[in-house]
Amino acid sequence: MNWFIILSLFCILNFQECHCCLKSKRSADYCECSDIIDLLDEYADRANIPITEKVGCVRNITCNADINTFAGFYFSASEIVRPDGNTDNIAYVDSINRQTGVPRGPLDIFSSFGMSCENKKWYVTKYPHGLSYYTKDSEEFISGDLDGKKSEIGKIFCKPPVI
Ligand SMILES: *[C@@H]1O[C@H](CO)[C@@H](O)[C@H](O)[C@H]1NC(C)=O
Repeated sequence: MNWFIILSLFCILNFQECHCCLKSKRSADYCECSDIIDLLDEYADRANIPITEKVGCVRNITCNADINTFAGFYFSASEIVRPDGNTDNIAYVDSINRQTGVPRGPLDIFSSFGMSCENKKWYVTKYPHGLSYYTKDSEEFISGDLDGKKSEIGKIFCKPPVI
């Protein structure tokens, strides 16, 4: 028996593995991150949130921009320095300006929040309305330009778009 036959046999016996590895090396469609749907909070109305997969790790997650659509992350898993007075280590990337309540309507939070996959982790890199976080007695805002700083997504809260 020559090596080719032995290798082919190995591939037939381990069809799944060979298929996956060959595909992952060849295909630009491969995304090393887990399914981003797993980051949606447990009460999300999954059936009514349009999520489409594009090439590689590009997605489209269309939500209704409002106070209930945002992404949460831990300051300890972010390049953004945790502000003094923050009590719970949590930051919120809002889909609207929480102080004015606008603008509302359908929003692709994947592109709006600059979501991207790196080293098997999902990050936000854009903060269209800055950040909000809590101190002992109040809600605070960081409105400066934070774009480009990476924060590992903890959870995504998405209200379905109103049609
Ligand atoms: C995302 O999907 C929505 C419809 O679900 C569409 O209106 C919008 O143009 C898409 N955005 C991008 C960046 O592809």
